[in-house]
Amino acid sequence: MSYSSIGRKVVMGLTGLFLITFITIHLLINSFSLVGPELFNAGSKFMGTNPVIQTMQYVLALGFIIHIIMGIRLTIQNNAARPIKYVHNDPSANSTFSSRYMIFTGVLVLLFLILHLKDFFVPIKFEHGTFGEDYDLLVRVFSNPLYVFIYVVAFVGLSIHLHHGFQSAFQSLGWNHPKYTPFVKKLGLVFCYVVGIGFSSIALFHYFNSL
Ligand code: HEM
Repeated sequence: MSYSSIGRKVVMGLTGLFLITFITIHLLINSFSLVGPELFNAGSKFMGTNPVIQTMQYVLALGFIIHIIMGIRLTIQNNAARPIKYVHNDPSANSTFSSRYMIFTGVLVLLFLILHLKDFFVPIKFEHGTFGEDYDLLVRVFSNPLYVFIYVVAFVGLSIHLHHGFQSAFQSLGWNHPKYTPFVKKLGLVFCYVVGIGFSSIALFHYFNSL
């Protein structure tokens, strides 16, 4: 492996872990909506007004862009390095389902992200003027069954992405250890289920509440 492709893997691992941190905080704030409007709006207001978080928003956008560009480049590069497709090989013998479909689950998340920004970020940022009255918007959006369906599909996609991605990020950064790697793998498995089930069940909770 050349130095530049090792560099790309490191960037991928770092941006992946950064996005994992973001998604964890996001899930935590979303879970506030299960408690009630006051807590959720307070959490949302904090995220919308805290200067550190506000600055981090730009870093997050950059992290996403780098992750996406590098992910696409790595996929093209990996495909080019393997000109003979798995004709005689059983692909499941040496790679998992989630690792083979990283670009597909990634693109699914990306498509959802565009829809999500349009439905939440743009109205909150540019139409309400401030964060803080967002519970009503959340309830309105999640009362739409089509949106909830798309939302759940996207989070199943992200969950599959993280099924491989979580532990792969540690590998890419060279953080391997015979003692800790099995733990990282288990943690990754728990994390991917928490993300998939967590985000989906919050959306479903609000949908059923709206009936
Ligand atoms: C919140 C959203 C996302 C999170 C939390 C996330 C997380 C991760 C993590 C942790 C990895 C493992 C990195 C590594 O192996 O070093 C990864 C890999 C990857 N991600 Fe994402 N990702 C997200 C969104 C996306 C999007 C939108 C795309 C592309 C459209 C994408 C494409 C990829 C690809 C192609 C890989 C595999 C790269 C390789 O060949 O090693 N991801 N992601």
